[in-house]
Amino acid sequence: MTIKEIFETMDYGPAPESSTEALQWLSDKGGIAGHYINGKWGALRDDFASNNPATGERLAGVTKGTTDEVNEAVKAARKAQPTWAKDGHKRARVLYAIARLMQKHARLLAVVEVLDNGKPIREARDIDVPLAIRHFYHHAGFAQLMDDELPNREALGVCGQIIPWNFPLLMLAWKIAPALAMGNTVVLKPAEYTSLSAMVFADICTQAGVPPGVVNIVTGDGDTGAALVNAEVDKIAFTGSTAVGRIIREQTAGTGKALSLELGGKSPYIVFDDADIDSAVEGLVDAIWFNQGQVCCAGSRLLVQETIADTFYAKLKTRMAGLRIGNPLDKCIDIGAIVDPAQLAQITKMVSENTDGETYQTAAPDGCFYPPTLITGLSPASSLMQEEIFGPVLAATTFRTPSEAVEIANNTRYGLAASVWSENINLALDIAPKLAAGIVWINGTNMMDAAAGFGGVRESGFGREGGWEGLSGYTKPKTSTKPVKPIAAFTGTDAPSDPLDRTAKLYIGGKQSRPDGGYSQAVFGPKGARLGDVSTANRKDLRNAVEAMNAAKGWSKTTGHLRAQILYYIAENLSARADEFANRIKAMTGKSGTSEVDASVQALFSAAAWADKYDGQVHGVPVRGVALAMKEPVGKIGVLCNDTPLLGLVQAMAPAIAMGNRVTLLASQPFPLAATDFYQVLETSDVPAGVVNILTGDHSEIAPHMAKHMDIDAVWSFSPLDFAKQIEAGSATNIKRTWITQNPTTKEALLHATEVKNIWVPYGE
Ligand code: NAI
Repeated sequence: MTIKEIFETMDYGPAPESSTEALQWLSDKGGIAGHYINGKWGALRDDFASNNPATGERLAGVTKGTTDEVNEAVKAARKAQPTWAKDGHKRARVLYAIARLMQKHARLLAVVEVLDNGKPIREARDIDVPLAIRHFYHHAGFAQLMDDELPNREALGVCGQIIPWNFPLLMLAWKIAPALAMGNTVVLKPAEYTSLSAMVFADICTQAGVPPGVVNIVTGDGDTGAALVNAEVDKIAFTGSTAVGRIIREQTAGTGKALSLELGGKSPYIVFDDADIDSAVEGLVDAIWFNQGQVCCAGSRLLVQETIADTFYAKLKTRMAGLRIGNPLDKCIDIGAIVDPAQLAQITKMVSENTDGETYQTAAPDGCFYPPTLITGLSPASSLMQEEIFGPVLAATTFRTPSEAVEIANNTRYGLAASVWSENINLALDIAPKLAAGIVWINGTNMMDAAAGFGGVRESGFGREGGWEGLSGYTKPKTSTKPVKPIAAFTGTDAPSDPLDRTAKLYIGGKQSRPDGGYSQAVFGPKGARLGDVSTANRKDLRNAVEAMNAAKGWSKTTGHLRAQILYYIAENLSARADEFANRIKAMTGKSGTSEVDASVQALFSAAAWADKYDGQVHGVPVRGVALAMKEPVGKIGVLCNDTPLLGLVQAMAPAIAMGNRVTLLASQPFPLAATDFYQVLETSDVPAGVVNILTGDHSEIAPHMAKHMDIDAVWSFSPLDFAKQIEAGSATNIKRTWITQNPTTKEALLHATEVKNIWVPYGE
């Protein structure tokens, strides 16, 4: 018999990993997952069970954290925070110690994760645990570098962190490592199905010398999570479903708590006809069958070029038939158990209710397992192409041209990740910037690393985790901010000095337009003189401005060089009319306007300077490739300006358009006339129509519509009136980015005007 024949006839033999040590560890802990507060194990109550989904056996009891317990943990974190924030080197040493101890206990962590979650040991051992460890190593470095590299930023304070069950340890690492590195303390709530690896981690924290109160873990379910959201924390970092993300956005609205949301996805996996088909098929195994498809960035929508679709599906089905599904502790298993029977029931329901296309499934053992599934011939609008299934189910369709591929790929409310497969790097790099996604993998999939930011756009949430870009979510600028007092508009009774109608119109789509409602309001000077009238914008005018911003989408594709030139030109034209603007400001406010005009010209110069310098980075990631961290405009921004009549407008507009965004600015309510004069400056400065739109009117009338508008990507409020609650709650509709401040700086504005897209490209050996 030849060796080849032996290999061909060899039967599959299981290679199970032992669970003895992990089960012993659990029983030594009393078999109950409890809270870890202020460096000590707190209440241990058997409130609900954590089961092994692969066998249905009970693993441990879990304590459901009460509001009092959550508050106790937050109090401990609050007390520990100032000392923890003081010494970056000390933090680096502690994070490094955590990483080393996680390495030492890597096998225990991996087996506990498999028992609790049902994922294959191969993945927990080779992916989840090493990546979690890498996160602590990498962020030990950021702790060390913080003082030198981020001298103008400081910790937020206490961070409440809520994580899902799909990567219990990895999500914990993603949340805790950056927060700690930047000098924050944390209260973390694991998901109810998977609390156990967080307990091992808490034990490691004690061993690593983490000071009491710096890391607190409170177990429980959604009620415990809600208690944490409502506790006295400075930030909530959430990963989970879009539905819960929306609730959290509404609950934190107006509280001043920072928020990051990493939500669902329906990521496209695009295969062009010139792709290396075998590699692309193999990639799909990692895209949709990794972790049973319970991955927020799973390549769950296959878009394959029509000419190769049949061949591709045939090869894929052959590969699917070879996937081994069963006992997750078996080192040869590809697909393990679904996390819980409730999740299995949801996947089963979604697939069985579908009547579109053709379904191909392989077999799965009895129990909490779901077979690898491919559904071909779906229309792009089919619910399985649109809804997150969060299971091993691949929905597929075909496309003909690259532009059609982009159109289908972007036809979703999500925007987390995308994979592009083509041997033509020109094509791949042409497609990558066109995809609405926070992460794009070229000829690869599901690659993640501590050095590269992870996070989405649209309803996949906001904020990045990992890389330099992830640090801004756990820090704030050091500047102390003084609240600005609201100014009441001056009143008067004067008849207009000019019998002709001089009502300033709105500025929409590069044209001066009458307000939809046909109303206007008078503007008086400090001594009651009527200076003029401005239009009162309503909801319809806002909609028209959004349409105008849509029509100006080409602006985001212009070069930084061009945008800089236009900003310099605006500055030049404003400068030429400096006296006129200064007089106007004086007439409205009673105070000299000279320095404000000068500051506005400077703000334009600053934004112009940054337009071609606020660059991205190339992240070194430990795979055969690099991640290009590209700064992209957030899109269409609505702004409520403050009451510095001209500067308030310019300091929002300039950085926003410098980064390629389009803006609709609602001018100062008491002092709108400098804004309306500014139209002419824009008109003479080559600003394309629709890039800047200016409305005047009542802020409280427009703010809620701006916040809820489904086609605005971000809302900034610099208004001295408190619209935070309205704006942040309203933004939950389409998970907009919001920025509420009374002291905007150009540097902060650049951060809010951009979102980082990480494009992973093959590079080198
Ligand atoms: P979920 O969003 O309900 O749970 C995630 C975390 O939030 C858990 O720790 C949970 O206890 C907590 N939570 C639940 N309600 C809360 C509330 N009102 N306030 C604060 N915290 C709360 O997700 P779930 O139920 O585990 O899964 C449901 C679906 O969500 C899945 O089928 C999947 O489609 C999606 N999902 C997406 C994830 C992602 O990473 N994008 C991760 C987990 C689930």
